[in-house]
Amino acid sequence: MLYSASTVAANGARPGAVDTGVPPVLDLLGIGFGPSNLALAVALREMLPRQAPFRFGFIEKKPGFVWHGNMLLDNSRMQISFLKDLVTMRNPASRYTFINYLHERERLLDFINTRTFYPSRYEFNDYLSWVAADFADTCHYGEEVVAVEPETAGANRGNGGNGALACLRVTSRAADGALTVRRARNVVVSVGGAPSIPDTFVPLRGHARVFHSSNYLESLERLGQSGPVRRVAVIGSGQSAAEIFLDLHGREGNIEVDLVSRAPALKPADDSPFVNEIFNPRYIDYLFSRAPNEREQLLSEFGNTNYAVVDTDLIEAIYEVLYQQKVTGKVRHRLLAGYEARHAEADADGVRLDIARRDDGAHQLQRYDAVILATGYRRELHQSLLAPLAAYLDDAKGFQADRDYRLQMAPGCQAGVFLQGCCEATHGLSDTLLSVLAVRAQEIAAAVLGNGESQGLANVRAAAPEPARSRPSRMAHAGTH
Ligand SMILES: Cc1cc2nc3c(=O)[nH]c(=O)nc-3n(C[C@H](O)[C@H](O)[C@H](O)COP(=O)(O)OP(=O)(O)OC[C@H]3O[C@@H](n4cnc5c(N)ncnc54)[C@H](O)[C@@H]3O)c2cc1C
Ligand SMILES: NC(=O)c1ccc[n+]([C@@H]2O[C@H](COP(=O)([O-])OP(=O)(O)OC[C@H]3O[C@@H](n4cnc5c(N)ncnc54)[C@H](OP(=O)(O)O)[C@@H]3O)[C@@H](O)[C@H]2O)c1
Repeated sequence: MLYSASTVAANGARPGAVDTGVPPVLDLLGIGFGPSNLALAVALREMLPRQAPFRFGFIEKKPGFVWHGNMLLDNSRMQISFLKDLVTMRNPASRYTFINYLHERERLLDFINTRTFYPSRYEFNDYLSWVAADFADTCHYGEEVVAVEPETAGANRGNGGNGALACLRVTSRAADGALTVRRARNVVVSVGGAPSIPDTFVPLRGHARVFHSSNYLESLERLGQSGPVRRVAVIGSGQSAAEIFLDLHGREGNIEVDLVSRAPALKPADDSPFVNEIFNPRYIDYLFSRAPNEREQLLSEFGNTNYAVVDTDLIEAIYEVLYQQKVTGKVRHRLLAGYEARHAEADADGVRLDIARRDDGAHQLQRYDAVILATGYRRELHQSLLAPLAAYLDDAKGFQADRDYRLQMAPGCQAGVFLQGCCEATHGLSDTLLSVLAVRAQEIAAAVLGNGESQGLANVRAAAPEPARSRPSRMAHAGTH
């Protein structure tokens, strides 16, 4: 299950190795196998020489690869150019480009004829799955990582006995509850976001009629099996809320939808070209170099590129739906802008919401068959996973990563911990997106290849290409399989 230039068995041991009962130490173990770690897998494969004795693998809790599968809605499109795929910005000559995917699927000319930079999310998911299929032997699917713990050199054989933190123990749990422990010198945590649930709905967590946008398709289908879904409230006014509103509108059954937004209007995402430069890799250097208060101010200034904003064409589509209601006099949907749900109760038959207008507090009681929380994501999962390492983290920095995405560890620690997708405060708004995946993967790979005294790493280092953005196309020749 683990990729290496030399073959390893499912438990990571080399063929013929005596089973000591202690799992071998991997050079790198990635937690989560979404686009971030997939880009890293590709970078490692392309940057490592073919026979490099560098063993890496990934652990993914889902049973197979899918990219935000519960939001793969008909007509939903990418919010980023296909050229910001897993590799192009690092190595446009890679075989894992979106363009080569189109070529292999025999759709390149047809795609060109669509004259778009923004494929459907369905197609981009197919592209990512096509890449992931080539790395199936690197990923353990269907296991959720539950802890990352220190293994000190003095505490375990094979680490030299100097008491330093040389290796990390990663414990994962399979669907049947079975626990597996793996050991690695470097761990890359790329676990994405967790649903952000408003306080009003916390007591209803897990209720079949109240669910987050990240579970939208599955939960709606399950609910539909127990009876018709006629009235729905969608909470939030970001891209997820807008897409779900239009998806519900387009479904059979004349579903009535209330879109409940704290903001007084649906606001457009700023994707204009000068502003879009904040998603360039070079901008990370700039933001990272600023003082914390300055970074905060910049993130807030450009928040409307990403958070609580909607693509303009979707805003126009929603406006058109509401306008046609006025023309026909048949009112199915409402946009409750400037409102918030202050109280919620649910039973087997429905959900009752107390919805208040934010300016004057005027409120209304409404009953729905379902409430969908399109209320965004939190990015703190890494903190609980890495909690057992707290004593080894640099006191001043805690979970704040360095420019190369590595957590600063106490002096003497040889093990490396890297973060992807939870460094927005220091690395900028591109951190949670696809924008810099390819370049970030290269930066992390270069940092890992220079980290610690991994077995045979000297060879790898000698053969590793220069880090960062200087000569991207050389990567292709450095070890592409
Ligand atoms: C609906 C939707 C559409 C989006 N569209 C775009 C877009 O068009 N353009 C763009 O730039 N960004 C988009 N984004 C932002 C999104 O964050 C990125 O596209 C991308 O998914 C980030 O990749 P990632 O690998 O960091 O995180 P994720 O894609 O979230 O992947 C994290 C993976 O880790 C796994 N995982 C989590 N916890 C564990 C654990 N404990 N053990 C094992 N595995 C675990 C998860 O199952 C998941 O597969 C979108 C987000 C959403 C929600
Ligand atoms: N097709 C696509 O490519 C696609 C589709 C969906 C999502 N995405 C991406 O996914 C990311 C997340 O988007 P998202 O729409 O899921 O989340 P989001 O942009 O963070 O929006 C969350 C919404 O929920 C509201 N909200 C949060 N807490 C609330 C509370 N306690 N009570 C009431 N409302 C609350 C916010 O309102 P306030 O402003 O009042 O806090 C905001 O309107 C973005 O990067 C987005 O671009 C992309």
